[in-house]
Amino acid sequence: MTDKRKIGVYPGTFDPITFGHIDIIKRACKLVDKLIIGIAESINKDAAFDIKSRTEMVKYEIRRLGINADIISFDGLLVDFAKKQRASVIIRGLRAVSDFDYEFQMSWVNYKLLPEIETIFLPASEDTQFISSSFVKEIASLNGDISKFVPESVKRKLYEKNDM
Ligand code: COA
Repeated sequence: MTDKRKIGVYPGTFDPITFGHIDIIKRACKLVDKLIIGIAESINKDAAFDIKSRTEMVKYEIRRLGINADIISFDGLLVDFAKKQRASVIIRGLRAVSDFDYEFQMSWVNYKLLPEIETIFLPASEDTQFISSSFVKEIASLNGDISKFVPESVKRKLYEKNDM
């Protein structure tokens, strides 16, 4: 029997997961029959957390919130991962206009590599427009309050990291 379900991949480095990512995940779940959150090995960014910790943080939060999504880490090309998971769409969040250029190029490259896959962009909700993992890490490293940007479990991990 063939699987007719619409499978979507929401990829990212999630270093660490923020309320911005969670907003996109919740909304993406409504668009597909099955959502796979793909945690990417970070080749272009110097990640603060290794892929295992990033994946664990995402798993913990997604389960805590009762969200029905699979969480799988991957290295290599996103399109290869998407194909392996039998996904037909890649979902990405768009914040300000500044995200557009990079995201537009990435969707074009992915389309050239695998034309069967479409990218869907979801605009970040008003409350999460300006959250970024980099800002969160910087604020935490300066002992600032990050409660408005990340869940409690992530906040603890960031402060623990600073104390090491
Ligand atoms: N709300 C708030 N913040 C958001 C957000 C939202 N809706 N969506 C993204 N962000 C922020 C993140 O916090 C992060 O901030 P940072 O740049 O300060 O770290 C940033 O926007 C993007 O992070 P993330 O969503 O985790 O994605 P990414 O850009 O790190 O992920 C991959 C990029 C993994 C999808 C891409 O590198 C990839 O596909 N890699 C695999 C290799 C490959 O196939 N390469 C060819 C593709 S062209």
